[in-house]
Amino acid sequence: MNKKIVLRDDEMPRQWYNIAPDIPNGLKPPLDPETNEPMGPEKLSAVFPMGLLEQEMSGERFIDIPEEVQEIYKIWRPSPLVRATNLEKALGTKAKIFFKNEGVSPVGSHKPNSAVPQAYYNMKEGVKRLSTETGAGQWGSALAFATSKFGIECKVYMVRVSFDQKPYRKSMMQMYGASIVASPSKETNIGRKILAEHPDTPGSLGIAISEALEDAATRDDTKYALGSVLNHVCMHQSIIGLEAKKQMEIAAEYPDVIIGCCGGGSNFAGIAAAFVPDYLEGKKIRFVGVEPASCPSLTMGKLAYDFGDVAQMTPLLYMYTLGHDFIPPGIHAGGLRYHGMSPMLSALVRENIVHPMKVHQLECFEAGALFARTEGIIPAPETCHAIRAAITEATRDLNDPKTILFNFSGHGLIDMASYDKFYAGELHDYDYPEEDIAKSIANLPKV
Ligand SMILES: Cc1ncc(COP(=O)(O)O)c(C=O)c1O
Repeated sequence: MNKKIVLRDDEMPRQWYNIAPDIPNGLKPPLDPETNEPMGPEKLSAVFPMGLLEQEMSGERFIDIPEEVQEIYKIWRPSPLVRATNLEKALGTKAKIFFKNEGVSPVGSHKPNSAVPQAYYNMKEGVKRLSTETGAGQWGSALAFATSKFGIECKVYMVRVSFDQKPYRKSMMQMYGASIVASPSKETNIGRKILAEHPDTPGSLGIAISEALEDAATRDDTKYALGSVLNHVCMHQSIIGLEAKKQMEIAAEYPDVIIGCCGGGSNFAGIAAAFVPDYLEGKKIRFVGVEPASCPSLTMGKLAYDFGDVAQMTPLLYMYTLGHDFIPPGIHAGGLRYHGMSPMLSALVRENIVHPMKVHQLECFEAGALFARTEGIIPAPETCHAIRAAITEATRDLNDPKTILFNFSGHGLIDMASYDKFYAGELHDYDYPEEDIAKSIANLPKV
């Protein structure tokens, strides 16, 4: 048995898979908040290039990956599929646990799979500067890396709590040539307004998105890039599952269970999408989307139209949401602190194809530590959520061992301050109170 399955460069998929046309009962379109009518590409073209808007609305199942993007992907792709034999042994399970290691990318996560094509399509349309938000710093680093490849300037609004927790993410973005500011910042109207009302706010992805959007909307030379949630981002990530499917075939295995952590939904959609057509044809697969108990959009949110940001600047998206003014506690998985979930993943949950699971911070760090001691790789706090669920699934019924595939969305080498706090006993579990969720859900836009 091979410990890891590695594809050659020329075996890398040349097309992304767009799951949109295969979702039973379809996706609901984004709405213009002023009219409640479906929003066409013309209005969105102020902040996104047409190349990406076409993908966002596309009904094509397969879309070619441009050669230039493939060449950059080859720096780290195809990524390895690894059998977690040492973890299996430590758990005393006969379950087979495979993980797709997206931590091998230059910045350490799956995020460049979308950052590179986003920078590419902007470059093709002459865009000189991109603004974006980042939670844990993984997306900001990915876009900083990608823009450096295409000679585009990059401005990153980094959620305050992560800005303070992860100084080396800042250094990385700087090294790739980006400029970074803690969000909320004094550089935008929305940032100044929030700081005046809540000077000590930890920030949130919803706030940082508003700032980055305001930046792009108020400058002619700038467009905006989003690291998750949108259809085109999920589609770019489909390369993860397309590769994993080939690799599982080489291993002569097929997953009974597929697991990913869920922040905005992109890495989960990435590992899962390629397997959904088999599921729809009758194959038995259990898809598990894992989220933090402190930011439980899939398990405790409402499926409704909502804004993607705090300042209500985005179109209305039909998704599981905790309400756009929900500010989650400053947990250490910054990339999972988002009030909504991608419309694609939301639709898969609505159709009962994906089963959401919520887990607590401490059990995730424990799972991450066990993984590091067995498989050797230190996972990002976000990724620890997927590992926690993989352990649960692998030990659920020892008499019925399953084949499990989870997405190892990123390494945690720049998250060591969070592990230090974990070992110092300074981290706590937090269930977001139902009353508070009800309060922000009461502020959902009326559609
Ligand atoms: C390592 C890692 N995993 C997962 C996520 C969650 O994002 P998504 O749900 O879009 O994959 C992030 C987001 O920052 C991340 O950095």
